[in-house]
Amino acid sequence: MSTTRRLHIGMSLAPTWLSGDAWRRADSRAEEIYGSDFALDIARRSEAAHLDFVFRPDVSCLAIEAMESGSGFASLDPTVLLAALTRETSRIGLVSTVSTTFFPPYLVARQLQSLHWLSKGRVGWNIVTALQGHENFGLEAMPSAEERYARAAEFTRVVHELWASFPNEALLLDRENGRYADPAQVHPIDHDGEYLKVRGPLNLPAFGARIPLVQAGASDSGRDFAASVADIVFAPTPDKAAATELRRDLSRRAERHGRSPGDIRLLPGLSLYLAPTREEARELFMQTHARVDKARKFAAIEQMIGLDLSAWPSDRRIRAADLPLPQLRPGTSRTHVDLLRRLLERESLLPEELLMRPEVLSAAHWQVIGTVDDAVGQIADWAAAGAMDGFIAAPGGSFGSLRLFLDEVVPRLAEAGLFRDRYRGSTFAEHLAEA
Ligand SMILES: Cc1cc2nc3c(=O)[nH]c(=O)nc-3n(C[C@H](O)[C@H](O)[C@H](O)COP(=O)(O)O)c2cc1C
Repeated sequence: MSTTRRLHIGMSLAPTWLSGDAWRRADSRAEEIYGSDFALDIARRSEAAHLDFVFRPDVSCLAIEAMESGSGFASLDPTVLLAALTRETSRIGLVSTVSTTFFPPYLVARQLQSLHWLSKGRVGWNIVTALQGHENFGLEAMPSAEERYARAAEFTRVVHELWASFPNEALLLDRENGRYADPAQVHPIDHDGEYLKVRGPLNLPAFGARIPLVQAGASDSGRDFAASVADIVFAPTPDKAAATELRRDLSRRAERHGRSPGDIRLLPGLSLYLAPTREEARELFMQTHARVDKARKFAAIEQMIGLDLSAWPSDRRIRAADLPLPQLRPGTSRTHVDLLRRLLERESLLPEELLMRPEVLSAAHWQVIGTVDDAVGQIADWAAAGAMDGFIAAPGGSFGSLRLFLDEVVPRLAEAGLFRDRYRGSTFAEHLAEA
C-alpha cells in the first residue's frame, strides 16, 4: 500500500488512438470523430473509471500538408463539443482549450461560464497561447512568446474579473419581495490594459464553483505564468528526470507567487500503446508509425533546432557537437525545442532512432509501450519518485489501448491506493481538491 497522494487523471478527447496510421484500422471509428457519440462514449467510460476530467486540446488552423495521411488537426470546436456531453455525464470534469491570443475575453468568459452552468460546475479551462493560426484572425504574424504570455496573463485576469462581475449571490430570485437580482452586487470591470479594453459586467451570473485552470507550455515564461495561475500544468516530460525537475521548479515558482506548492499539479501527457504482451504492444507502435513522413519530420527538426538531417548518412550518429547553437525560431514551442536539444545532448542517436523518439514523434510526451503491468508499474514508479501529480492519458495505436487503460490500468491504480475508487465531489474543483 502506497503512502503517495492520490493521482489526478485526465483523458485526452483528441483521438490520439487514430494518430499515425491507426485511423486506417477497420475498428478505428474514424468516421465518427465529427459527431458527439464518439466523444460521449469515451467520456462515459472515463466517468465509469472515476477520472478527474476529459480534455480537448485544440488549434485554430488546419495543417493541409498533413491531411493526406491524417486529420491535420481538423476537429469540432472544443467548447461546443463539450456542451454536448454536459447532459449525458454527471461527475466528470470537462476541460476545454481556448487560446488567449486570438479570441476576445468577453466571449471566452461567457462561453466557459455557460458551459459551467450546463455542466453544473464541471468546467476547466486549458489556457494556451497557441503557436500558429494568426492568419485566421487578421494578425500579420504570430506575436512573440513573451508578448503572448504577457497578453495571456492580462487576459486571464480579465476573464476572472468578468466572472466576478456578476457574482452568483447577486441573483436573488426573491419572489416575495419581487427582487430578481441585486444590481448593487453587479459591477463593470472598466479594464483598460496593455492589450485589452473591456467594460463588463458579464451578462451571465457566475455558477458558483471555481473554474480550475490548466496551462500547457513549459518554457521559462510558461512555467512562471503557470505558477501564478494554474491548477494543472500539462507538460511534455519524456522521462522521469524531466518531470521531477519540472515539478520541483513549479513548486518553487508557486511559492514565489505566494501560492502553496500543493495548489499546482503537474500532469504530464502519457502516451499509452497497450496490448496483452510486450511484443504485441511494440508491433502496435511500429504499425502505427510505419509510414512516418521522414521528409516532414526532418523539416520539423530543422525548424526547431536548425539541424539539417535531409542528407545525413543513415549510419552516422548525431552527436551533441553536431547541434547548431540555440536560436529562437518563430512558430516553435520553446518547451519542445529544449526537450529535443536535451535528448540529443544526452544520447547519440541514428536518424532512424531519433524519428521514433517521443521528442520527434509525439510531442515529447511520456510513453509506455507494453502491457497493463508495465503501465501500472511505471505510473507507480513515477508517483513514488514524486515526479508528477497525475497525468493526461493519450492512448495510441488503437481503441484497444484506451479500453485496456480504463478497464484494467485504472482499477489497478485504485486497488493500489493511487487513485480514487469513487467520486466524492461533484464539481471539477472538488475532484482536484481531493488529496
Ligand atoms: C503539452 C503542450 C500542449 C499544448 N497544447 C496546445 C493546444 O492544444 N493548442 C494550442 O494552440 N497550443 C498548444 N500548446 C502550445 C502552447 O500554448 C504554447 O503556445 C507553446 O508551448 C509555446 O510556449 P512555450 O514557449 O512556453 O513552450 C501546447 C504546448 C504544450 C507544451
